[in-house]
Amino acid sequence: SCRAVIFDLDGVLTDTAIYHFYAWKALADALGIAFTEHDNEQLKGVDRLGSLRWILQQGGLTLSGAEEARLMQQKNAHYLELIDHITPDNLYPGVAALFADLKQHGIKIGLASASKNAAFVVERLGIAAQFDYIADANNVVNSKPDPEVFLLAAKGLGVPPEHCIGVEDALAGIEAINRAGMKAIGIGDAKVLSGALKVYPTVQAITLVNIQRHCLG
Ligand code: BG6
Ligand code: MG
Repeated sequence: SCRAVIFDLDGVLTDTAIYHFYAWKALADALGIAFTEHDNEQLKGVDRLGSLRWILQQGGLTLSGAEEARLMQQKNAHYLELIDHITPDNLYPGVAALFADLKQHGIKIGLASASKNAAFVVERLGIAAQFDYIADANNVVNSKPDPEVFLLAAKGLGVPPEHCIGVEDALAGIEAINRAGMKAIGIGDAKVLSGALKVYPTVQAITLVNIQRHCLG
């Protein structure tokens, strides 16, 4: 049975995925490297350094550590500027109701985010206190698709991975959930997120009933 649901943050609980894209796009433009929304699917769920190196590689560039650090700082400053307006209104529809249902049924709620800004974002969304455990890029060594961040969340929740469901909008995230031995629910396009057990268009389409159904299977 199902004892915990572990959510990704960017693109699952709120619309920040698009701001990560805008900020990476601006950086790629400045470097003269082509970068499309289609390319960005590969970068969803990938951590900051991994994302930068993917873009640099597209342009055939290899930079020093200091140069990489400067570009990451620049991208993050731009990203923080873009999300400066975030309030509880930016929580996707259905999240509050789903969280309430999960709590009422004794199912724990975890976060597994590749972002170093996760704590800030959940604070601004007004949901920080809803999580039984938060795992993010500050607590792990290996980035998605490595399962580390999901396994850390499960450990923090005190629930074995086989009793956890993971919810992700990213290819790398679905792979991480599967490698963690959890059941993967995708948010977005079923053609993109082919490794998921089931894909819903938005988090609003997830109900407690379908969560329980996935746990039986
Ligand atoms: C992930 C996003 O959640 O976090 C990526 O899907 C992003 O797009 C990554 O690059 C790292 O975020 P941050 O906030 O640590 O730069
Ligand atoms: Mg995401």
